[in-house]
Amino acid sequence: MKDSLVKINEEVKNCQKCPLCETRTNTVPGCGNSRAEIVFIGEGPGKNEDLQGRPFIGAAGKVLDGLLESINLKREDVFITNVVKCRPPLNRDPLPEEVAACRDFLARQVAIIKPQIIVLLGRHAMDRFLPGLKISEDHGKPKLRDGQTYFPIYHPAATIYQRRLLQTLEVDFKKIPKIIKLAKNENKRS
Ligand code: URA
Ligand code: SF4
Repeated sequence: MKDSLVKINEEVKNCQKCPLCETRTNTVPGCGNSRAEIVFIGEGPGKNEDLQGRPFIGAAGKVLDGLLESINLKREDVFITNVVKCRPPLNRDPLPEEVAACRDFLARQVAIIKPQIIVLLGRHAMDRFLPGLKISEDHGKPKLRDGQTYFPIYHPAATIYQRRLLQTLEVDFKKIPKIIKLAKNENKRS
């Protein structure tokens, strides 16, 4: 059977591939437009996301909504998900083995949506696709890997504790429309 986002959601719901399944309230597979040109990838669900089963609905989500609005996009236009689909207890960082266990779900989502660009929100999402880079040095610089354009930027939550990062994030975010255009041209040529 052809793979689909609905099928992935169902598998995630029943997934017990890592210990995060034991502490989750709800799985948070991600949501948005299955034909989105942009996929946003965060770290993992927080408290609110775990309670409601949807990504980026707390304070970080508000920051993300403001950024989307700044480039005239709505949530329905994009697809938003995370490296791990279940909440790490007390919002600790996801462990490498948890990221590895969840890896395939994210890869399949990307393969179905085929976005022009993948925006990596923060260090954990960046490590998953662009290992070895440093967010403080590589944020705001698009990277082409195996025909896919990636765009690492700071995590919206980082701006809540470090206000000065908000401006950096806003500047990086505004580059997105232009990067999509470039990615489209790249994909036409190849
Ligand atoms: N932070 C994340 O990385 N993901 C969410 O879904 C919410 C907050
Ligand atoms: Fe499965 Fe991913 Fe949840 Fe771990 S985080 S239980 S791998 S869906």
